[in-house]
Amino acid sequence: MHIVPEQPHHAALIEDLLEESFGPDRHKKTVYRLREGVAALSELCLVAEEDDGFLRGSLRFWPVSIVVDGAEARLPALLLGPIAVHGGLRKTGVGTLLMQEGLARARVLGHRIVLLVGDEPYYGRFGFRRVLAENLRLPGPVDSERFLALDLVTGALDGVCGVVDTFRPDDDMTASNAAPSPAPKWAPME
Ligand SMILES: CC(C)(COP(=O)(O)OP(=O)(O)OC[C@H]1O[C@@H](n2cnc3c(N)ncnc32)[C@H](O)[C@@H]1OP(=O)(O)O)[C@@H](O)C(=O)NCCC(=O)NCCS
Repeated sequence: MHIVPEQPHHAALIEDLLEESFGPDRHKKTVYRLREGVAALSELCLVAEEDDGFLRGSLRFWPVSIVVDGAEARLPALLLGPIAVHGGLRKTGVGTLLMQEGLARARVLGHRIVLLVGDEPYYGRFGFRRVLAENLRLPGPVDSERFLALDLVTGALDGVCGVVDTFRPDDDMTASNAAPSPAPKWAPME
């Protein structure tokens, strides 16, 4: 089995897997609404595939923005999911491999914040914490105990309060909550 980037021919297999794992009501969920009209980040979408093409699992990431309370700032973040592993192959480490590879790629690509709605007892092993998402809100119904965050860069969520919004094409994927560096000190040449 290999963890490889998702290709166009995987789309139908992934839809079947998501239907099997989550059922048709998944589209009504708040996280799905945040993905409407926005493409998944192809560089972070992975599948676990066997040599014969059998799809064991899938992981996708979407871009979102955090609209910071009381400011015009929109901070970029990743929305992790959906992740699903074929029913007969769960608990064999496939989900862990997909999570580890996806998060490693996100880190290398310079992403700072990852959000998801899921069970902390599972996602906690990858660093996701409820406490990191406590000052964030989702724009629809969600079990708040399952709204988790991970800071890929330590402190990326420090002081960040706001609501998660759909990513817009002109959003800056590199914006951060870090204070701008002070202007360099200079002295006139004598
Ligand atoms: C969640 C999921 C992706 C995990 O994939 P997986 O390949 O089975 O996971 P792994 O084999 O890497 O890890 C299995 C471990 O995670 C635990 N685990 C799996 N789902 C869990 C959950 N929701 N809460 C707590 N622990 C969970 C298993 O009990 C197992 O524990 P162990 O290592 O102590 O035996 C898979 O179970 C799945 O597709 N579930 C249905 C779809 C789903 O719920 N997706 C997540 C939506 S938030």
